[in-house]
Amino acid sequence: MAISKYYSLFLMLLFSSLILSANAQNVDIKTVFADAEKQTEVMLREIPTAKHGKAELVSPRSLDANGQLVLTPSFRWTSGFFPGVLWYLYKYTGNKKWAEQATIYTANLQREKYNGGTHDMGFKMYCSYGNGYLLTKDSAYKNTLLQAAKTLATRFNYTVGTFRSWDTMPKFSFPVIIDNMLNLELMFEATKLSGDSTYYKMAVSHANTTIKNHFRKDFSSYHVVDYDSTKPNSIIKKVTHQGYADESAWARGQAWAIYGFTMCYRETKDPKYLKQAENVAGYILNNPTMPEDLVPYWDFNAPNIPNEPRDASAAACMASGLYELSTYSRNGKIYKKAADKMIESLTNNYRSPIGESRGFILLHSTGAKPNNSEVDAPLPYADYYYLEALLRAKMIKEGKKLF
Ligand code: GLY
Repeated sequence: MAISKYYSLFLMLLFSSLILSANAQNVDIKTVFADAEKQTEVMLREIPTAKHGKAELVSPRSLDANGQLVLTPSFRWTSGFFPGVLWYLYKYTGNKKWAEQATIYTANLQREKYNGGTHDMGFKMYCSYGNGYLLTKDSAYKNTLLQAAKTLATRFNYTVGTFRSWDTMPKFSFPVIIDNMLNLELMFEATKLSGDSTYYKMAVSHANTTIKNHFRKDFSSYHVVDYDSTKPNSIIKKVTHQGYADESAWARGQAWAIYGFTMCYRETKDPKYLKQAENVAGYILNNPTMPEDLVPYWDFNAPNIPNEPRDASAAACMASGLYELSTYSRNGKIYKKAADKMIESLTNNYRSPIGESRGFILLHSTGAKPNNSEVDAPLPYADYYYLEALLRAKMIKEGKKLF
């Protein structure tokens, strides 16, 4: 008990000094949103050409090696982020033209509400239809969200106590990835919209099982836990898929953990979720490989740091999660300062020049380094969480409720 008390104090002092020496400056949120609007106008002009006549390609995915825009079909996990960017531009500006575009790009995902072949339902449908519903209260959006949650519920396994992540990898039996935490927000929302507590209970069970099995003693998260779904409490292996090594801390995985457990605390008020988010935040903010600008390398244990790619998407998601965490935690000031520094760094040093990069907002993210896929690239989830973090910074500044 005493050791853990001193350890917490030590961590707090360490990351206070790290953050307080960061000399964060204010980001001019109005200008950044005006720039984001200009970039998104570029993106909207680029998309029709990048389709090359393929109607199934609906949302931006990244740029290829020649700098050409690559699009994704709706069934892939990143299809909801661009509709989400459009909803966030509408939320900030109130300009109807963004709501009109958001409506169009959201509608492209309609069929996904029946797609039970993936756990990424929350990423796809909550960023698009979820934001659309929160902003418009359109009952058709509500019905789509409820069907999406019903479909995702088919992936819940009562023996394991979690949703299953991937189906298509023969090397895994019943894989659960830390990313899956983000899909729980859809389930919490479904209970609020329907009054059916089944979704809430599934989300809580998934979060509890993840706390039990996904974390190391230092509170870093494994990427994948592979379960034997024929018996309770049976783990086959703990490994990575997108990180450097099985025992390493993949940066975006840590971001998913901070964001996911903070969101679970918001939805349940169970203090163990708050503690988990704080513990993972402590791990990243005290990590000796975290750079001074607080935009992490793609993996905290990547072998050639400092000569490794950064992951702006991880920083954007961490910043958004830390802003929310700052509103619940007694260490709130520290988390807010860290998020401010991340946003300042992303704004000053990771944004695309206006008019370039086919309209992406941020550069220098890493998708999947082990596959040499989307390394040092723009990614739509970086842009989405960056705008979300800015919106959260604005709400905190104005003393308004985030949700
Ligand atoms: N959810 C997949 C990723 O973070 O790359």
